[in-house]
Amino acid sequence: MKKIAVLLSGRGSNFKAIYSAIESGEIKNAEIAVVISDKKDAKGLVFAVEKNLNAVFVDPKNFNDRLSYDLYLVDILKKNNIDLVCLAGFMRIITPEFVDAFKNRIINIHPSLLPSFPGLHAQKQALEYGVKFTGCTVHFVDAKIDNGPIILQEAVMVKEDDTEDSLSERILKYEHKIYPEAVNLFIEGKLVIEGRKVRLINNQ
Ligand code: GRF
Repeated sequence: MKKIAVLLSGRGSNFKAIYSAIESGEIKNAEIAVVISDKKDAKGLVFAVEKNLNAVFVDPKNFNDRLSYDLYLVDILKKNNIDLVCLAGFMRIITPEFVDAFKNRIINIHPSLLPSFPGLHAQKQALEYGVKFTGCTVHFVDAKIDNGPIILQEAVMVKEDDTEDSLSERILKYEHKIYPEAVNLFIEGKLVIEGRKVRLINNQ
């Protein structure tokens, strides 16, 4: 049984999508071993508590700097024998030390077709730029923001009357599709990182 950690700061809808995929058997041989939030009232953390998961609030105020915070998280993750760390709306930039401690075992979801529109407010950036398509990306996490090798992407059409909210909502549906798929591919050992590229092993 592979052990997954989810790190989040808010709503937690991507976490719920991963949780549901495990419950339904779409993702097999995996369990969510810990959910960590840097926000006490994060809805995702509340959901984890409701589901009797190991839910941990780690208050950044108790740490002097980012590194000591991250090393504390790494300690929790190691104690829980975590195989895969899923960032799911975790609103902190993680340190290179954290990335190294779980090298090629941290993945993230971003609401744009990377490398376009990294960083905050990706949907707003896409609207303002005037692209006709945007989407979402699941990628491995490296030391740069929204930069690591891409696992899966889904394209979403931008409509002329889209607002940031309407576009975000449409993209989110695809996030909930590709994030569990990417987790499943990782758990099944079907992802091979070759430089910047992720090759999918198709051996079913
Ligand atoms: C999602 O749009 C995700 O792509 C981005 O942060 C948002 C988190 O939403 N990284 P939720 O907390 O999973 O609902």
